[in-house]
Amino acid sequence: MKKQILIKYVVPLLAVGMVQLVSAEEYEYDAAKIPPVSSKQVDFVKDIQPLIEKSCIGCHSGRRPKSKYSMETREKTIAGGSSKVKSIVDKKSDKSPLIHFMADSTKDEELWMPVVDKRDKYPKLTPEQIGLFRAWIDQGAKWPEGLVLQEKE
Ligand code: HEC
Repeated sequence: MKKQILIKYVVPLLAVGMVQLVSAEEYEYDAAKIPPVSSKQVDFVKDIQPLIEKSCIGCHSGRRPKSKYSMETREKTIAGGSSKVKSIVDKKSDKSPLIHFMADSTKDEELWMPVVDKRDKYPKLTPEQIGLFRAWIDQGAKWPEGLVLQEKE
């Protein structure tokens, strides 16, 4: 099943104080490629944090996160980056770009996460791990108050 999502974003023109539509981006994804949701009761610290730290945080943290997308806090992880599109849709893992990207389900391979040619350093998540991520989102994306993730040396 093919679906299309229209992603629009506006960038404020600071100089003139106007808002202008600069780009309308679209991505197509194949829902059949998204692994099933895990039936497990997910614990963020035990199940999800290690996956983010291993496969995502190296590019999505610090002073210059890729695509201006930081996964250091819950708020930022949900918010998304320069696309200005929320990467997590509340309790809907099947609609969340974060899941579409880690499942390599988008037509555009540049959106596959972790970036394809960096997977020796940042391993792709297994279907079971993506299922856990889905369950985490569907269960409310719980994240301990005040916990900030950082790149591990
Ligand atoms: C090697 C660096 C690298 C790693 C590791 C990585 N990403 Fe990315 N990420 C990028 C780059 C580069 C982009 C911009 C892609 C584009 O727009 O073409 C991006 C964009 C994104 C976006 C879109 C942000 C926005 O709103 O613009 C999301 C969501 C995302 N990554 C999630 C993840 C997740 C989840 C992981 C871990 C499973 C991950 N990334 C691992 C480099 C990385």
